[in-house]
Amino acid sequence: MPEITYKTDLDNVDWAEMKTTLRQDAFDNGRSPEQLKISFENSYAACVAYANNRIVGTARVLSDGVCNAYLVDVWTLSAYRRQRVATTMIQKLLSRLKGQHVYLFTDDVPEFYAKLGFVEQPIGMGQVIETWLINES
Ligand SMILES: CC(C)(COP(=O)(O)OP(=O)(O)OC[C@H]1O[C@@H](n2cnc3c(N)ncnc32)[C@H](O)[C@@H]1OP(=O)(O)O)[C@@H](O)C(=O)NCCC(=O)NCCS
Repeated sequence: MPEITYKTDLDNVDWAEMKTTLRQDAFDNGRSPEQLKISFENSYAACVAYANNRIVGTARVLSDGVCNAYLVDVWTLSAYRRQRVATTMIQKLLSRLKGQHVYLFTDDVPEFYAKLGFVEQPIGMGQVIETWLINES
């Protein structure tokens, strides 16, 4: 397996490649390459994992920089799973969030997040305002 490298700046990220890779790996939530760019660039911190110069993982966090943060877009390309890629990305993000409460939503992999120290804190609530992804971005 090639070496995995982790970038926490977003210089030279190929957003079209990210979109294509997410779609091929069945983790595309509908954002265009431009919307991916905006969501990552508007995040408090982000991490993109690379192998052979190809994107193999993402994670990002929204935060007010003081007390509240929200972890999203955690994904490892299927062929690279179970090699601690997501763990490494999240640890890099959490190191930027000292003193903050970090929340997330998962319906698939609570065991994965539990290993990183997260505990269930029900109940989460949410709603989509008007139509998903139709906005001013
Ligand atoms: C969940 C996901 C991000 C994990 O990525 P990963 O890089 O394989 O995770 P890691 O290798 O860092 O896993 C660390 C540990 O978490 C646990 N873990 C990882 N994936 C797990 C899964 N699917 N179910 C249960 N536990 C899991 C394992 O104990 C693993 O350690 P081990 O391999 O020594 O047993 C990846 O499977 C993925 O991208 N899934 C699809 C997208 C998704 O569901 N994202 C989360 C949205 S909330």
